[in-house]
Amino acid sequence: LAPSVPKLAQPAGTPLVHSSLPCYRKSRSCSHLASASSTAPGSTTMKPQPLLTNFIQSKEEYDALYARSIADPASFWGDVAEQFHWEKKWDPDHHSFNFDVTKGPINVEWFKGGFTNICYNALDRHVMTGHGNQHCMLFEGNEPGSDGAMTYTQVLDEVCRLANWMKAQGIGKGDCVAIYMPMVMQLPIAMLACARIGAVHSVVFGGFSADALAGRMEDCKARVLLTCNGGMRATKKIELKQIADQAIEMCASRGHTVDSVLVFANHKDGVAGAEAAGTPFTQGRDAWWQPTLAEFPALCDVAWVPAEHPLFLLYTSGSTGKPKGVLHTTGGYMVYAATTTKHAFQLQPGDVFWCTADCGWITGHSYLAYGPLLNRAVSVVFEGVPTHPTPARSWEIIDKYQVKQFYTAPTALRSLMRSGDEWLSSTSRQSLQVLGTVGEPINPEAWHWFHDLVGNGRCPVVDTWWQTETGGHMILPLPRAWPAKPGSATLPFFGVEPVILDDKGVELQGECEGLLMMRRPWPSTLRSVYGDHKRYEENYFGPYPGYYFTGDGARRDKDGYYWITGRVDDVINVSGHRIGTAEVESAIAAHHDCAEAAVAGYEHPVKGQGIYAFVVLKEGVVPNDQLKKEMWTNVRTTIGAFAAPDVIHWAPGLPKTRSGKIMRRVLRKIAGGQENELGDTSTLADPSIVRQLIETRN
Ligand code: PRX
Repeated sequence: LAPSVPKLAQPAGTPLVHSSLPCYRKSRSCSHLASASSTAPGSTTMKPQPLLTNFIQSKEEYDALYARSIADPASFWGDVAEQFHWEKKWDPDHHSFNFDVTKGPINVEWFKGGFTNICYNALDRHVMTGHGNQHCMLFEGNEPGSDGAMTYTQVLDEVCRLANWMKAQGIGKGDCVAIYMPMVMQLPIAMLACARIGAVHSVVFGGFSADALAGRMEDCKARVLLTCNGGMRATKKIELKQIADQAIEMCASRGHTVDSVLVFANHKDGVAGAEAAGTPFTQGRDAWWQPTLAEFPALCDVAWVPAEHPLFLLYTSGSTGKPKGVLHTTGGYMVYAATTTKHAFQLQPGDVFWCTADCGWITGHSYLAYGPLLNRAVSVVFEGVPTHPTPARSWEIIDKYQVKQFYTAPTALRSLMRSGDEWLSSTSRQSLQVLGTVGEPINPEAWHWFHDLVGNGRCPVVDTWWQTETGGHMILPLPRAWPAKPGSATLPFFGVEPVILDDKGVELQGECEGLLMMRRPWPSTLRSVYGDHKRYEENYFGPYPGYYFTGDGARRDKDGYYWITGRVDDVINVSGHRIGTAEVESAIAAHHDCAEAAVAGYEHPVKGQGIYAFVVLKEGVVPNDQLKKEMWTNVRTTIGAFAAPDVIHWAPGLPKTRSGKIMRRVLRKIAGGQENELGDTSTLADPSIVRQLIETRN
């Protein structure tokens, strides 16, 4: 094993026989090894010098490369893409796009003419170059002590077996496969197996209800479902197979049939033999993952696909309508996810990288599965929650695996911060080199706690702004290349050209605040909304022709740094003043007694909208009117009197999904007194919080 990687026990729950390395490499010297050499039609023997192989050292270096990426994107990304294996090289004029709905259909193409496979680049490439025995994934179960690991060779074996099983079910290029699993290593394996044969994966977060799963399977016409009997999160049992069965029944009642279900037997409560433990099972349709895959060969040819071949769908909620199936394609996504991972985190091959996101969200796709593996890192897969069994769990995992890069959500940090600093004291976290955050604005207090305490003041904090639709990081500080400002994502990544518009669509220059748009595509731009290209055009390109509309507001400061002010659909308009909920929250959270705050707009008879603040106090703090006044004053002095909250509600907690995102829809309904219209709250980590909030409302 690579020296930097701790030696661990055999992978949990993977009783598959693994081939030894020499025999493995020999057996793999078949079609795809041959084609990795220079004999493939169209491939070049002399590769140009690839770009972005070294980390960015300074703002000057960034400025020069950024200018080049904007001046000639096709040659820039072509040079970056040289680092990957392409079965056939892209055409010289490989890049084209139209972002203007008034000039015709929206389209984006990168690496046109090229053929590749992302699974090959994430696995085979490393095994071929002698790194098959390096760890690929480290698994940490819900309970301390339940762990496992898989090498690149082992992962490739299991990917191939699964790919062969899917082929036997009739799955081929372009078919959608649904994945509904907890955070076990088999989830990234399932994604890679789809990619290997050109199938399109649609991962549905394990916290979604049967209804949500059914809707997604129907929309993408998935005939095959990869799932799991269940799992544990903290002390809660998750019965995934039961939910999956309900979803399949719902599909059937509406005329869509799921033909084959493969069920990974997760070791619930650390006890093996879950098959016998009463998991519902339908003969003829369902099969158990482990014994079934053991029957399939650990070799599977790669399906070479065009660069624009669909790679995955990921459903995401907009402000209106049913969730949209955001479509990403192969070549551009591969190059962009890998390159941002490497540069955002200064990731070297063999580094132990921990992204705490679930693979049910885009962060898990790009920065737990594809990005780290494309860079030959060791990716940590954690099934549990950061507060179980104690709030020290994350720090213990970092020490246990010697994690170098830790990437998490501000909301998780705020919750850990609230538990108290003492939970850090039994760990050193000396292995950490770069810290990252994603998903929401990070308030300066949480930023400082992360930087000063978690990272002992040694590690840069990379605040990454991006979206499901963007596939990869868009605005972020490259570590050690320029100074951070807590709360700002700072500057655009290469090839990303942000524009700030006023609400009439006029481009603003210099220091300004408005709508955040993108003028041009980056390689992992979403290509469509699955099955509804019109909705894609209307939603993202309709509002301001010529630009991609992010749905976020942003401010640009005198140094050109971007500050995300929050979703524009969450913007509150008070007496004609637009107020970003994020700004108000940050001002309240700056109070030393505040653990977390969330703000929602509600209908106000005089001002149009009023501001309603849900405030969670730190443990042990007794709520009182003086505190209210201080927090109110904080907002007045940080933003202005017009932004001071009309209501401060001492909240027992905030309604969050299991991925840690605050469910603002619920807050808006409670703030507006519409508690009968809360909608689906089944994805909340703790649904009882809704009742508690209603009961404690002023
Ligand atoms: O509002 C922005 C916020 O999250 C939205 C995208 O959400 P989603 O597609 O679920 O992807 C989350 C993970 C990339 C954005 O429109 N957002 C994401 N990152 C940040 C952020 N807001 C502020 N700062 C960030 N770093």
